[in-house]
Amino acid sequence: MRGRVPRGCRIYAMLRAQGRHLSFHTPGHKRRGEDITELSYSDNLLSPTGVLAAAEKEIAALLGAEKSFLLTDGSTCGVFAMLYAAKRLGAAKIAVSAYCHRSVLNACGVMGLTPVFMEQPVRCGIPAQPAVCEMARALAQADALLLTSPDYYGYFPDLAAARSLCVAAGKLLLVDGAHGAHLKGTPRYAGNFADLWVDGVHKSLPALTQGAVVSAKEGAAEALADGVRIFRTSSPSYPVMASVEYAVRYPRNRAVERAAEALKREAGALKNEDWSKIVVPFGEKSGAAQQALERRRIYCEFNDGNYLMFYLSPATTLRALKKLASALRGLPRGHVRDEAHTAGMGGGNVVLCPLKEAAGKVCACDCGIFPPCMPVVRRGETIGSDAVRRLSEAKNTFGLTDGKIKVYTE
Ligand SMILES: Cc1ncc(COP(=O)(O)O)c(C=O)c1O
Repeated sequence: MRGRVPRGCRIYAMLRAQGRHLSFHTPGHKRRGEDITELSYSDNLLSPTGVLAAAEKEIAALLGAEKSFLLTDGSTCGVFAMLYAAKRLGAAKIAVSAYCHRSVLNACGVMGLTPVFMEQPVRCGIPAQPAVCEMARALAQADALLLTSPDYYGYFPDLAAARSLCVAAGKLLLVDGAHGAHLKGTPRYAGNFADLWVDGVHKSLPALTQGAVVSAKEGAAEALADGVRIFRTSSPSYPVMASVEYAVRYPRNRAVERAAEALKREAGALKNEDWSKIVVPFGEKSGAAQQALERRRIYCEFNDGNYLMFYLSPATTLRALKKLASALRGLPRGHVRDEAHTAGMGGGNVVLCPLKEAAGKVCACDCGIFPPCMPVVRRGETIGSDAVRRLSEAKNTFGLTDGKIKVYTE
């Protein structure tokens, strides 16, 4: 935190205004810096009345919310608080995408909420956003609708249609905007539609890791405040809070947005809907492409075995984009196979099977790569050869046990 205090950033200004002092308080590192705890001058996030209250009020005004809450525990905390609020407001069943983030299902599990799944057909390895008819079908059986907007691959659900469905049914619309904080002030921003929504400020805006905001419109704000009080840490990081305030105020960078779209066209990236996510298909050559880029010190957000995903923000520089464009030129491309996910015969005994012998067997546990943290093959599906390849090549997986996959015996 060197240099000038960014304009309007109250938390940074408060931290800077204090000179060095002797620390007989937490944290234990005792470095006399800006990583402090609740002191006489630094307010208290659990019941803010000073600088943090003012920052939250201004953030709410910027995001079009009745109330917004600073979070230092990631969007995960926001998802939990948002679902708690929905429950407080009477919801028991929540319509959710089949490929929603694990925090949504964990929160439903902890709070005894029943998820009603919306189908998301997988095309070329990417789950499509739920269609409007699928939202309507699930919402008819649920008390609230939760959508991810945009998703990790840069696609949006039809939020306007979702809003109309929810208004007509008198039900709540919740949006997991873990990847959408950079959209503030644009037509696709979650806050234009949702009753409750999360902004993952640390992903697509320049905040420190774990910085997020959860917001509510009138009518849901008090219930959300209760949820936030339950789920957020009692030791919030001041550097993270200061960075969230800074990031929410960060302006659009239209030059980078234009350059990103040009790079997508040049690199043959997916024609997705979000400039900040460049998704380049490499198919079975994705591992080799990742290695070639890393030799040039270029790191992507993830390699899901089909695509390399490059995550931008308004703080991305034109110079960095130029380097990426030049490094992508000439990298060999493979084929992304549209492997059908067929339902197999689930049930019977579960055994661990070496991945290389698993093709054709029925999967007994959701398995995937993280990020993006979506299953490559789900419980009850027949395991395809491409799924085996992607899981075998991935560095970080979930659902596997010592490189083996759980399958049903006949
Ligand atoms: C769609 C979605 N929601 C929620 C989260 C959780 O965000 P965080 O890691 O900030 O807790 C993620 C993380 O990647 C995500 O992809």
